[in-house]
Amino acid sequence: MDSARTDGAQGDGAGTAEAFSARLRAATWSDHGDNETSAYMSALVEGRLGRDEYAVLVARLHPVYELLEGAADRMAADPAAGPFDLPGLRRLEALEADLAFFYGPRWRARIEPSAATARYCDRLREVCFTWPGGFVAHHYTRYMGDLSGGQYIGLQVRKTLDLSAGDDGVRFYRFPGKPKAYKDRYRDLLDAAPWDAAEQERVIREVKTAYRLNAALTEELGEGLRPSAA
Ligand code: HEM
Repeated sequence: MDSARTDGAQGDGAGTAEAFSARLRAATWSDHGDNETSAYMSALVEGRLGRDEYAVLVARLHPVYELLEGAADRMAADPAAGPFDLPGLRRLEALEADLAFFYGPRWRARIEPSAATARYCDRLREVCFTWPGGFVAHHYTRYMGDLSGGQYIGLQVRKTLDLSAGDDGVRFYRFPGKPKAYKDRYRDLLDAAPWDAAEQERVIREVKTAYRLNAALTEELGEGLRPSAA
């Protein structure tokens, strides 16, 4: 799908012919950059992290996906938010399989809470269970990320952690369909969402918040890294 297409705007007085998916991406791309360039994510994709350092990221994301997927259950019947929970997109089961791989069957007892995860979870609880647009904002930030840069991250993780045995340790990045097909469908849903201009702006603001919460999470992980040899 061409993301620059012009047929997606709703007849809502938004005052722009630009599809919402394209506008959302453009309005938040600088916030995305803060995530991509964090010390932890850079170290991760450059192959400078060990298994234990990577496993902590998976552990920190667990409560985030637990809440997002609990909210997806709550939003299932909502005509705007429900359709975003596309079949095969949910990550919790794969994430738990990866945690069992890294921490063993008693992984729940071995993972520790963190301040940044707690703040992220507070916000998810605040907005994702009662506000469809807020749910979509947080859902978009994680799942479209997993389908995009996440695919590259997954390849790097597999390579640098020497995970050669099937999908063990990287199930989180494996979707049952082609990532591009999911992303096209997801953008179609964003473009069809029945939101007026004011609601679109609220969703954009919430995506910026979601990016900030993710950046704080990796910043916190970066504090625990060994100083680089450079
Ligand atoms: C090393 C870290 C990262 C890299 C290298 C990276 C890279 C990318 C790239 C190349 C795209 C564009 C893909 C495309 O247009 O098809 C993308 C999209 C995206 N990324 Fe990341 N990313 C990283 C981290 C993150 C993080 C931590 C998040 C949020 C939690 C995130 C959320 C997103 C989202 C939501 C999109 C879709 C934007 C859109 O097209 O609407 N990314 N990423």
